[in-house]
Amino acid sequence: MPAFTATAPGKTILFGEHAVVYGRPAIAVPVLQIQARAVVSADPLGQPGAVRVLAPDVGLDAWLDELDHEHPLKRTITNVLNELQVERLPACSLRVSSSIPVAAGLGSGAAVSVATIRALAAFLGHPLKDERVSALAYEVEKLHHGTPSGIDNTVITYAMPVYFVKGQTIEILQPGSHFTIVIGDTGISSPTMGAVRDVRQLWLADPHRYEAIFDSAGEIVRRARVCIENGMLQALGPLMDENHALLEQMSVSSPELDRLVRAARQAGALGAKLSGGGRGGNMIALVHPERGEEVAKALQEAGAVRTWISTV
Ligand code: PMV
Repeated sequence: MPAFTATAPGKTILFGEHAVVYGRPAIAVPVLQIQARAVVSADPLGQPGAVRVLAPDVGLDAWLDELDHEHPLKRTITNVLNELQVERLPACSLRVSSSIPVAAGLGSGAAVSVATIRALAAFLGHPLKDERVSALAYEVEKLHHGTPSGIDNTVITYAMPVYFVKGQTIEILQPGSHFTIVIGDTGISSPTMGAVRDVRQLWLADPHRYEAIFDSAGEIVRRARVCIENGMLQALGPLMDENHALLEQMSVSSPELDRLVRAARQAGALGAKLSGGGRGGNMIALVHPERGEEVAKALQEAGAVRTWISTV
């Protein structure tokens, strides 16, 4: 039975989350050791249109017709069919699995969308260009995030470090040297939509103050880009610390995130900050490669439920 498989990596935002929703730049990188996988298999005995959707990780096993129109997987499939002007799928099953923790700021929703779009398009014999994959995944991101900037679907589709400004052509970053980050997961599930909504409330109440904070974040991102492209890692760490302080002012940090950030710095990280939506989810620390294990251990002792060491 022919089966079409696609995978997509996790991601982490190095600089600029939240401010990116307001037009400032942000930098994100793929995290290749965690990924989502989608497999579409033809069912030669099934009726046309009979599509089984399976996602054992979240206990989903249903016919496509039974899913609500707002269900992210249903929306993803519908978007692909509309894009390819296909009215009905041949009988098949879609099986989705993922090693990316959900609602942890590691891009699980976007990775599932990207993998599903690619597997389905291949199954239908019309592989899509990256630009279209990202655009279709962005439509689904709106269900997860409300007003997403588009950074998650972009970095995950291209699986390369990106310098991202909402609505502009993406720029792939070429780091001047390898660098190592340690990711620490608080284990606290925190939907991005809530944090994005709260920042919007603060901004609406005091636009002058928050525009200034977003400007400062944007400036940090521009400086970070220069450091990354020129391999100036020593200078990158303090920029992470500065970005974390701004995220605290945006009210998206939490005692658990602050504890992990402090623990990483004390264990010798060059800098550390929360990453993604905040309130829970994960944080990142920039480290000398030989310090990675030590910082990961310090994060676990400070309460991280999982850690990853990732080389960019
Ligand atoms: O998906 P997360 O939680 O890594 O965060 C997305 C980043 C935000 O800037 C908070 C929102 C967005 O759409 O850019």
